[in-house]
Amino acid sequence: MKTIIVYYSLEENTDYAAKRIAQSSGADLLRVYPKKAYPSSGFRKFLWGGKSAVMAESPELEPYDFNADDYERIIIGFPVWASNIAPPIRSFIRENRLSGKHIAVFACQSGSGAEKAFAKLASALKIEGFENELILIDPKSKPSEENENRINEFCRRLKG
Ligand SMILES: Cc1cc2nc3c(=O)[nH]c(=O)nc-3n(C[C@H](O)[C@H](O)[C@H](O)COP(=O)(O)O)c2cc1C
Repeated sequence: MKTIIVYYSLEENTDYAAKRIAQSSGADLLRVYPKKAYPSSGFRKFLWGGKSAVMAESPELEPYDFNADDYERIIIGFPVWASNIAPPIRSFIRENRLSGKHIAVFACQSGSGAEKAFAKLASALKIEGFENELILIDPKSKPSEENENRINEFCRRLKG
């Protein structure tokens, strides 16, 4: 199934996971960037990013190359922000018609909230759920066997 991984990452954990999944599955990769970057350090990072997520903002994205007709499966990846979807992903799903696609999802978090974020994403996409889900704890900044096992299992299910 022709697959693309569409993801946003502020601090490279989601980027790490996206590249691992692409390596194992052969999927294409599309990283989206907001035109106005979120702060990546200090208190401002949590304040600005957290507020933007809670307000369900959809910031303007840098131009990107994507044609939904080219893909049967979309894997969406994002860092959990305030138990919500990272806002650039909200922008992407507003800008593209993904209905009828197989949708899988993965999220990186430092503690909890991914399940709530998945529910919000499903609701934004107007779907019941995802064909495959993966939750990781800071896979780049806190590497662990558990994260690697989960990534491998996710990729195995993609092939099934
Ligand atoms: C604005 C903001 C809000 C966050 N909210 C949560 C949260 O609700 N739950 C959680 O477990 N981690 C939260 N985190 C931590 C990130 O989800 C986590 O570190 C993730 O691995 C970062 O992915 P990235 O490196 O791809 O940006 C938050 C981080 C930021 C910057």
